[in-house]
Amino acid sequence: MSDVTVGLTVNGRRLRVTVPARTTLADLLRDHLHLTGTHLGCEQGVCGACTVRLDELTARGCLVLAAACEGAEVVTIEGLDDPDAQRLRGAFSREGALQCGFCTPGMVLAAHDLVRRREVLTREETAVAMSGNICRCTGYNGIVRAVQSATVEGIEHDIDPEVAG
Ligand code: FES
Ligand code: FES
Repeated sequence: MSDVTVGLTVNGRRLRVTVPARTTLADLLRDHLHLTGTHLGCEQGVCGACTVRLDELTARGCLVLAAACEGAEVVTIEGLDDPDAQRLRGAFSREGALQCGFCTPGMVLAAHDLVRRREVLTREETAVAMSGNICRCTGYNGIVRAVQSATVEGIEHDIDPEVAG
């Protein structure tokens, strides 16, 4: 199998990596960059465990070829560390939004995309918005509460940073 060399930015680091041409972005992250927080479940675009941010959009790492990522900016769970991510981590812990943790990196990436939009969604709307990510443990109620809670915290912080912290 032929190799390809790809230049991309991962969690703020500019890299050039040479991988077999059929390598997916998820395998590049896990096997070549040792960023194993990007999990692999179904490997066919269904479960969301491999969710990363690719050029400011959430993407399934298992469906994207590394060779297609020339010049791309990728953020994985290891590099997601802004205030919204910190609010989400706190909310996931507080609301019981994780058990085994297998789905959690993908859930947090997907949830972060919602939280940073600052849209107050109903419980049902939040559940639908998160429905691309599958969790086998929690029953989803805690995940929905965590996303709603982190969104409200973000809005409160934007209105009054002194009070909201
Ligand atoms: S491992 Fe990519 S969507 Fe399931
Ligand atoms: S916490 Fe176990 S799969 Fe979601």
